[in-house]
Amino acid sequence: MKNVLIIGSTGQIGSELTMKIRKMFPEGTVVAGYIPGMEPKGELLASGPAEQADVRNGAKLTEIVAKYKIDTIYNLAALLSAVAERRPLMAWDIQINGLLNVLEVARESGCAVFTPSSIGSFGPETPRMNTPQDTIQRPRSIYGCTKVATELLSDYYFSKYGVDTRSVRYPGLISNVTLPGGGTTDYAVEIYYAAVRGEEYVCPIAAGTFMDMMYMPDALKAAVDIMLADPSNLKHRNAFNITAMSFDPEILRKKIEEHIPGFKMRYEVDPVRQAIADSWPDKLDDSCAREEWGWAPSYDLEAMTVDMIAALRSKLDR
Ligand code: SER
Repeated sequence: MKNVLIIGSTGQIGSELTMKIRKMFPEGTVVAGYIPGMEPKGELLASGPAEQADVRNGAKLTEIVAKYKIDTIYNLAALLSAVAERRPLMAWDIQINGLLNVLEVARESGCAVFTPSSIGSFGPETPRMNTPQDTIQRPRSIYGCTKVATELLSDYYFSKYGVDTRSVRYPGLISNVTLPGGGTTDYAVEIYYAAVRGEEYVCPIAAGTFMDMMYMPDALKAAVDIMLADPSNLKHRNAFNITAMSFDPEILRKKIEEHIPGFKMRYEVDPVRQAIADSWPDKLDDSCAREEWGWAPSYDLEAMTVDMIAALRSKLDR
C-alpha cells in the first residue's frame, strides 16, 4: 500500500481513514476522492491531493488511478441503510454499478480494493447470537441487498481475475469527527452529542434492540490491517465479521449516565429504522478475523464512552 485512492474521503469513515493512511505512509500519495457538495476542507484538503471521484464515473476513476499510480482503492461510497430505503435505485447505482466501475479499474490497473460490507448484509433468518462468518444472509433492506452483492462481486473478481479484494462487515460505527449519513445505528452517535450538549435524547430505536457497534479507531485499524495482512493466511476475503461490543439503547443510556449524571432519554421509535434493526443480528462471531489476520478491537463500551465524551466536550466547547 503506497499510492491510495479513498473514494468517499469526506464521509464518516473516509475523513478519518484518509488522514490515518497519510500519516502512516508519508512516502506515498493518498488521494482524497470526493463528490460535488462534499468537498474536503481543512486538514484533509491541506495534507494531500484531492480529486473529484464519483464511483458512477468509471472513466474518471481510470484517469485518477493512472495519474497517481494508485495501487490500493478504498471504495467507501455508499448510501446508509435508512437513506437507501428512501432512494433504493440510487443506492443500487452507487453501491453496485459504482463497485463494478471500481473493480474494472482495479482489474485493468492491478489495484487492491477494500469495499466495506456490514451487519446490514444479514437478515431475519440469520442466527442472531454469535452470528457465524459463513451463514444464511438474505437481508430485507436494499442496503443489505447491495452489501451481499458487494461481497459476492468482490469475491468473484478475486477468483476470476485475481483482483486483490478484501473487506470486513462493519457494525455500527461511532465517531466524534464526521457524522454518519442516515444509518440505522446512527442513534449510538447522536446520543453522545445530545448528552454532552445537556439535551434530552429522543431515541428512534426501541429498548431491547441489540446491535454490534465499534469505535472509529478500531474500524480504521481494521481497514488498514486487513489490507496489510499476509494473503496466504486468508481463507476468507469478502467480508470478515468484526465487532467490538453489542448493546441496546438502555445499556448505552446507563453507561452515558454514569459519566453525565442526569442525562435523560425517551423513545420515539422510527418504524423504518426499527424494522431494519430487528432484521440484523444481535452479536457477531468475529473469530475468523481474529484467526486469519489478528483482528482484535481496543475499545469496549466504557473506554469508548470516556473518549467520546472528552472529545465531544472539547469539540462542542462544553
Ligand atoms: N451503520 C450502517 C447503517 O446503520 C450499517 O452498516 O446503515
